Amino acid sequence: MLKLPGLIDVHVHLREPGGEHKETVASGTAAALAGGVVGVLEMPNTRPPTCDAATLALKQAIHRANARCDTGLFLGADGRDLASVRVLAGQVVGLKLYLGQTFGDLIISDAGLLPPLWETWPGPGPICVHVESPQALAQALALSERYHTPLHVAHVNGRELLRLVLDAKGRGLPVTCETTPTYLWLTRDDEPRLGPFARVKPPLGSAEDLAALWQHLDDIDCLATDHAPHTREEKLSSTPPPGLPGVETLLPLMLTAVHQGRLDLRRLIALTHDNPLRIFPITPPAESWVEVDPDERYTLRGDQLLTKCGWTPFETREVVGRVLRTWLRGRLAYEAGTVLAEPGTGRDLVRRA
Ligand code: NCD
Ligand code: ZN
Repeated sequence: MLKLPGLIDVHVHLREPGGEHKETVASGTAAALAGGVVGVLEMPNTRPPTCDAATLALKQAIHRANARCDTGLFLGADGRDLASVRVLAGQVVGLKLYLGQTFGDLIISDAGLLPPLWETWPGPGPICVHVESPQALAQALALSERYHTPLHVAHVNGRELLRLVLDAKGRGLPVTCETTPTYLWLTRDDEPRLGPFARVKPPLGSAEDLAALWQHLDDIDCLATDHAPHTREEKLSSTPPPGLPGVETLLPLMLTAVHQGRLDLRRLIALTHDNPLRIFPITPPAESWVEVDPDERYTLRGDQLLTKCGWTPFETREVVGRVLRTWLRGRLAYEAGTVLAEPGTGRDLVRRA
């Protein structure tokens, strides 16, 4: 048995309010605990999106009542309400900006709206960007250089974005980034097999992209999941939404990499615990850890996961390393397929000034 610090997943979609048929705060945080995750940072592309004081207060209340693990909220912005960006910054883990189209309506449609956002955002959290094109990332990097604003680049999917991030780090810019198990374990070669269950934004890369991400795991700051549940029916429809669940499968997949000798356990802890705490203004739950059996070999199955969507792009994949128990604030929160932490157990991760 191996004991690790409880994971902090810095990129999760819990769908409440507005998408409760896909996932709820209660179901998504149950899934997190089953994955050894004790804290999740939640994205703002709910319906309505987390862009104003009333919605932020509503979501804080939903999380207070329903979260089984700790959570911290991102603020979103469409670039037209700078007052909210200024006033709400202290209550959130960061400002999430969508510089490219993805699931939901939240997007900055006009690049001219970006400089005022950088000028207005007071921190302490970073600006976190969804970018898919090198042009959009270059623009975000230039703004962060100009305004000395920490920038966190979400879900780097391959060489193009990675190269720009590494170059910016080399120039001393305040930039960090994450990748996800999706881009470390799947490529576009999996698309024929998985169909809509491989559709994700940004899209899967090539085998060379995957290799570059593995090669640079020492330069990448965080391993997040971009847990983005959609129902099976939605995925099989004529307009499948992008996004894949993942909060429960990160640890078994990455423990498999440790088992294979491709990842150092210390590095895994840095990517999933130490660096999230360094980058985001959060206080992790005390006495929270996960116990794993690093040698147990088993097969991932969607119907054994606790996410409400009930499927995984890693269906039937053999992994080595199972989460046995998760402890939250000194109490057993998950054991052997059963979540013991009740809704309302989770606390706000945001570090108050
Ligand atoms: C995410 C979603 O479904 O909310 N989808 C995705 O493909 N990653 C949105 C996002 O993170 O881009
Ligand atoms: Zn996302």
